[in-house]
Amino acid sequence: MLSRSGHEAGEGVEVVTGDLAADVGIDVAVAGVEIIVHCAGGPKGDEDKARNLVRAASRAGARHLVYISVVGADRIPVAGGVDRAMFGYFASKLAAGRVVAESGLPWTTLRATQFHDLVLLVARYLAKLPVVPVFPGFQFQPVDTDEVAARLVELALGQPAGLVPEMGGPKVYGMAELVRSYLQATDRRRWLLPIGLPTQAAAAIRAGANLTPDHAVGHRTWEEFLRDRLADARTEPPARAPREVGTPA
Ligand SMILES: NC(=O)c1ccc[n+]([C@@H]2O[C@H](COP(=O)([O-])OP(=O)(O)OC[C@H]3O[C@@H](n4cnc5c(N)ncnc54)[C@H](OP(=O)(O)O)[C@@H]3O)[C@@H](O)[C@H]2O)c1
Repeated sequence: MLSRSGHEAGEGVEVVTGDLAADVGIDVAVAGVEIIVHCAGGPKGDEDKARNLVRAASRAGARHLVYISVVGADRIPVAGGVDRAMFGYFASKLAAGRVVAESGLPWTTLRATQFHDLVLLVARYLAKLPVVPVFPGFQFQPVDTDEVAARLVELALGQPAGLVPEMGGPKVYGMAELVRSYLQATDRRRWLLPIGLPTQAAAAIRAGANLTPDHAVGHRTWEEFLRDRLADARTEPPARAPREVGTPA
């Protein structure tokens, strides 16, 4: 495994410290590796990371490169300004996917919807605000990270297959619905403040470009995930006394 910060090795995992963006340590990480699963991603810069990886992987003679992208990467047009700042991630994933597809290496790319963990991260962040902004019309189809990981393993052990069918969670939720479920489950009360985003990317998301209802293959629901996570009290910071603003959600 390649990591910038270094993780503890274990369970047959050997860790190489490096950085795909800075092009450091990649040759060492891929030396002798036949199958590469490229999960390293962030809000921006994934194209450069992919380019550095495929160069090293080609030199090493890798025989299968598996990449995880996001549903909507090809359907959400990202212009400049606000779109780039808020939704540049989708363009970055699309560009990285092209690098993989044009690498000359045998490849497989899976596009998945948002992970439950990401929804929880965002909900936790938003819940710290006294008034929570939500984007009307935004919907999400969260999928379980373990299920996506299992699919990536299956793909990695199979033949290179190019762009494979998308993977989405079992249900679609409105953004406000997701936020409310978190607030309710953690006994918080907040006002939700609807904010319309008049941008191209936001319009595409309102039209469902980030969803894949025909590929709702995930099993674990957001409700199950949230219940399980919150059952582990150690992972959940104690609820702070909310600052009430009128009648909250
Ligand atoms: N989260 C979602 O909802 C979602 C949905 C669809 C697809 N995806 C894709 O799935 C992948 C994993 O997402 P995630 O949310 O699980 O991400 P994450 O928790 O932020 O993990 C990203 C991983 O990438 C590694 N990484 C980032 N930049 C790196 C660099 N420059 N060099 C080497 N390693 C680097 C990080 O390792 P270190 O910090 O140890 O270096 C970390 O392990 C990403 O490609 C993401 O775009 C995510």
